[in-house]
Amino acid sequence: MKILVIGSGAREHAIVRALDRSPQEKEIYCLASNMNPGIAELCDEFLVGNINDPDFVSNYSKEVGAKLAIIGPENPLANGVADALWETDVKVVGPKKNLAQIETSKAFTRDLLTEYEIPGGAKYLIFNSLDGVTDFLNELGENYVVKYDGLAGGKGVKVAGDHLHSHDEALAYCKELVNSGSEFVIEEKFIGQEFSLMSFCDGEHLKHMPAVQDHKRAYEGDTGPNTGGMGTYSDANHRLPFLTNSDITQAHEINISTAKALKDKFGEGYKGILYGGFMATSNGVKLIEYNARFGDPEAMNVLPLLESDFIDICMGITDGNLNEKNISFKNKATVCKYAVPEGYPDAPVKGKPIDVSKIENPDGLFYASVDIKNGQLVEAGSRTVAVVGIAETLSEAEQIAEKEISAVKGPLFHRTDIGTDSLIQKRIDHMKLLR
Ligand code: AMP
Ligand code: GLY
Repeated sequence: MKILVIGSGAREHAIVRALDRSPQEKEIYCLASNMNPGIAELCDEFLVGNINDPDFVSNYSKEVGAKLAIIGPENPLANGVADALWETDVKVVGPKKNLAQIETSKAFTRDLLTEYEIPGGAKYLIFNSLDGVTDFLNELGENYVVKYDGLAGGKGVKVAGDHLHSHDEALAYCKELVNSGSEFVIEEKFIGQEFSLMSFCDGEHLKHMPAVQDHKRAYEGDTGPNTGGMGTYSDANHRLPFLTNSDITQAHEINISTAKALKDKFGEGYKGILYGGFMATSNGVKLIEYNARFGDPEAMNVLPLLESDFIDICMGITDGNLNEKNISFKNKATVCKYAVPEGYPDAPVKGKPIDVSKIENPDGLFYASVDIKNGQLVEAGSRTVAVVGIAETLSEAEQIAEKEISAVKGPLFHRTDIGTDSLIQKRIDHMKLLR
């Protein structure tokens, strides 16, 4: 079978590796936004082009004769690339544009949870002017979050205490949004520990992946600006050390109810990866946001653990018979760490050479924002390369990841604290205190 993968970051490198491990006959094609030597090595053809242009993508897919496509990032989903591919009879892992609103519109998602009485919702209001903003901020007091209602790579969300330090600052941000003609959501701020719970979804049936915790802040100790995610970990029992079984069950149920609500609303099911961003709180599990794709870095934690045939799972998603598939993940702990350019995310250095030759296990290395200039691997300005350590325990997995990421040379930095016993103990203590 000919399979088209859209996207070229570390997440897509993990996707291509999972496809490559399948025992089925296949040819893999990749439409990329930048050069990724790790993906290129595993593909029959690797082409850089505008992955957000539905016509370009579907024409390329026709040209190579793809039967299955997997869309990695959110922007092609937002632009209707899945719709265009389905129209040419390509089966697609990744929701159509209207269903992808679960990620592309914060207001849509909050309204969906309310309309279908799905647990985990927040107190919220949607605005397109300043009318009523002060009253609602007064009602929420110190615990509020202001969210631009669209894709902004994580930069549209401002949280009280972190980015906003008074109602005046919140109002100023709202004014900025109004002036740019944007809709926005103000919602209650949840206090607790965040985790990601991704499910394969075929429109009706869901199969859940191990829970993962991401670290969004750029610097040690969860300080500094927000990023796409500096690193992640998952535990051997597929739960996280600070979560209870009930937390996991609640997250599963929210994903199941959301998929059902989407099918009811659009008369057609959501086919792809449903990624719930949750907060465990003293008052149960709450939904922070949905993403309509694999997480990055979360994909590098879970896909290497997948024991089942990934192509078979993708066919289950597109054909609607995921319930008939046995899906299993190895009971191992994983720690993923990203190396990012000096100055990232605000003023990253670009185009400087990096050296990955000292990495001991190349199977644990995932290329992201890189390029090849004069035969030399260089950093391209965003998260550069990721490594994953896999072991029986989190401590061992962390030691592997730390050793490997430290072996990557160049003007880069990484967070040494991700996955360490002391940071994980802080998460456990925080949850104990709250519960
Ligand atoms: P989002 O893009 O919605 O995931 O928001 C980015 C980050 O903002 C999340 O990962 C959380 O750390 C934080 N955040 C968003 N919504 C809330 C909320 N209601 N309560 C607390 N933190 C939030
Ligand atoms: N890990 C955060 C994201 O994929 O959006």
